[in-house]
Amino acid sequence: MKRAAMAMAMALVLLAAACSEEEPISSVEGVAAAGEAVFVEYCSECHADDLMGNEDGPSLLEPEYMLPGFPDTEMLHHIRHGEIEPEGDYDPMPGFPNLGRQSIADVMAYVRAVQAATP
Ligand code: HEC
Repeated sequence: MKRAAMAMAMALVLLAAACSEEEPISSVEGVAAAGEAVFVEYCSECHADDLMGNEDGPSLLEPEYMLPGFPDTEMLHHIRHGEIEPEGDYDPMPGFPNLGRQSIADVMAYVRAVQAATP
């Protein structure tokens, strides 16, 4: 009985590890139209509704934040963990460890869509 409880606890630990924040989200299809709402709620206070940035954060339409130089894996890392040593005079970007995988995939799809539409 005790052993079964142990096994159960181990399984839960493994499950928690498997669901950890480092899990890639490439299996989740991002929906740009849904990502716009996520962006407005969590991101636009620093990056502005049009992604052009403001005094609290840079424009995400700078070539340095676009593909292929700025891959999705890097954007994902920034969204989850933030940026504690920002360039320039910005305060650090907070991480969003509690944003679900679908929301992150959606907001990334939205950022990519706006970037792709930028001449
Ligand atoms: C409190 C302000 C703030 C919020 C909220 C914020 N950011 Fe940022 N973000 C910043 C700052 C400041 C930087 C610049 C970091 C640097 O210079 O390296 C940044 C940088 C970035 C970058 C570029 C990464 C890099 O190399 O610096 C991306 C992509 C980004 N943010 C996306 C997002 C997304 C998506 C959200 C919403 C989920 C978000 N940000 C919310 C302030 C913010």
